[in-house]
Amino acid sequence: MRAQVFGALLLASNSCATSRQGADERRAEARDREPPRASETADPILPLPHSRTLDAGRVALGASLFQSPLLSGDASVSCASCHHEQQGWADRAAHTQVAARPATALNVPTLANLQYYFYFSWNGAYDDLAAHADSLLENPDIMGTTWSAVAARLAHAPGWQERFAAGFSTGLRPENIRAALVEYEASLSMPDSPFDRWLQGDGSAISVAAERGYRLFESRGCVSCHQGMLLGGNLFQRLGVMRDYDPAAMAKALHAEPAPAVESRAELGRFTLTGREEDRHVFRVPSLRNVALTAPYLHDGSVATLADVVDIMAEYQLGELLGPDENQSIVQFLDTLSGRSQGAP
Ligand code: HEC
Ligand code: HEC
Repeated sequence: MRAQVFGALLLASNSCATSRQGADERRAEARDREPPRASETADPILPLPHSRTLDAGRVALGASLFQSPLLSGDASVSCASCHHEQQGWADRAAHTQVAARPATALNVPTLANLQYYFYFSWNGAYDDLAAHADSLLENPDIMGTTWSAVAARLAHAPGWQERFAAGFSTGLRPENIRAALVEYEASLSMPDSPFDRWLQGDGSAISVAAERGYRLFESRGCVSCHQGMLLGGNLFQRLGVMRDYDPAAMAKALHAEPAPAVESRAELGRFTLTGREEDRHVFRVPSLRNVALTAPYLHDGSVATLADVVDIMAEYQLGELLGPDENQSIVQFLDTLSGRSQGAP
């Protein structure tokens, strides 16, 4: 069933455009291989596993690459400029603005538990971390360079040649830079959340209120979309199932200033990939693991707190209103989903 549900998907996205060539074919593929949106797959929520078969040397090399501005064309930005470990490898700004680049059209997502995702990006445009890394590197608004340019630069910087020679028999080569970075990305798992310990039988790992929140999460239907080990990440769904998505109206209901919108087609979600009307505002259902660490929320970072996004979900996705204590219990449940960041394996 998995294979059928999670069919391969290799697409160009608006925010991280890969080469123009073949874009039409990839779009056609997207149409043909659309995964289901219904909750017919309802995966059970399982604890995150510990076991990982990663190469420790390459992970460490990838960690250094992640921190290095030599990976950007103008040598001013590293991956860590936008993805901060203490914030679950996300960023506190709704739209992140770093050196000489436009503010990001979308909120910087967490990188925790990437190895368990089936799709990457808010609109799920990629199904492979290596292909995603290619597009990041080439995107002028992110890194703006090429692997071979990075290889040439690293070859002249002290220490890299030796480190690559230790990690790869072929040494410092463009494809090995990418492989080390991807190995590091796959290492960013955050197991051992209180909820995982509770799932494994430790009844006192979460509070009574959080347990009540979990039951509400199930009974109110959140789990029909936020399902499986990641509590999300395996379906595409519209933002605004029961009510049309309207950020200005949302801000008003929340008594908040509307977030300054960044004009972008990325707002349109999967529509930018498929061009189909029904894909407007359809996004990958985000994983709720570590969600307490990754404010602000939604693809545009327009919602500041978990309490508010939970109310929005109930209203816009389920057509329900939650009582204040129900909202609070669900937030307490979501708080139990923060795992422990692990260093290199
Ligand atoms: C200028 C800020 C910025 C920089 C620099 C940056 N990213 Fe990101 N990253 C983002 C944004 C914004 C998104 C979401 C884009 C989207 O969904 O279309 C993202 C998405 C991702 C994702 C997908 C996560 C998911 O949930 O699917 C991965 C993986 C990732 N970045 C890794 C990296 C790596 C590796 C680097 C360095 C090579 C990097 N990023 C550099 C802003 C940045
Ligand atoms: C119909 C599917 C669906 C249902 C039901 C649903 N969600 Fe969501 N949820 C989504 C989608 C899609 C997004 C991402 C929307 C966006 O980014 O614009 C999301 C986003 C979120 C976020 C923000 C995550 C982040 O990183 O920004 C939280 C928290 C959340 N949902 C919790 C809940 C809770 C709690 C419930 C039940 C009250 C619920 N959801 C019900 C589909 C759903």
